[in-house]
Amino acid sequence: MPNGIDLIMLDHRAVEALFASFEETNDANIIGLVIGALKAHDDAEQAALYPLVGTLLGDTDMIERAAVAHSMVKKQIELLSTLEGPPLVDAFRQLQALVAEHVADEEQRMLPALAERASVQQLEGLGARILQAKQRVG
Ligand SMILES: [Fe+2]
Ligand SMILES: [Fe+2]
Repeated sequence: MPNGIDLIMLDHRAVEALFASFEETNDANIIGLVIGALKAHDDAEQAALYPLVGTLLGDTDMIERAAVAHSMVKKQIELLSTLEGPPLVDAFRQLQALVAEHVADEEQRMLPALAERASVQQLEGLGARILQAKQRVG
């Protein structure tokens, strides 16, 4: 079973690659792909990552920060559906900035702290639950 932290980071890299290919191509189809990837990632983190972080780290500030970041991302995604043309591109870039900031927080603080505290079995259990959450979505 894959390590759950590795799966989370693979998702982050995949979304960054989509944002980068939008920069290169301006292909509007990529916006939908980013939204789909972010929704699946949100489901997996809410179902599997954050409960484990809550149990093992007990850092309510960290969990609260993540909850706020996820809800800002969701609101920005809702905003995208009301826009087109240059305002849509601007709002998409704002979404990219929100995601980048939250990913940095997870990768610099949450995931290293979790890696230190969790056992190999717990991280594999996290991996299994992430894959389950993704199957439910997809
Ligand atoms: Fe997150
Ligand atoms: Fe994440």
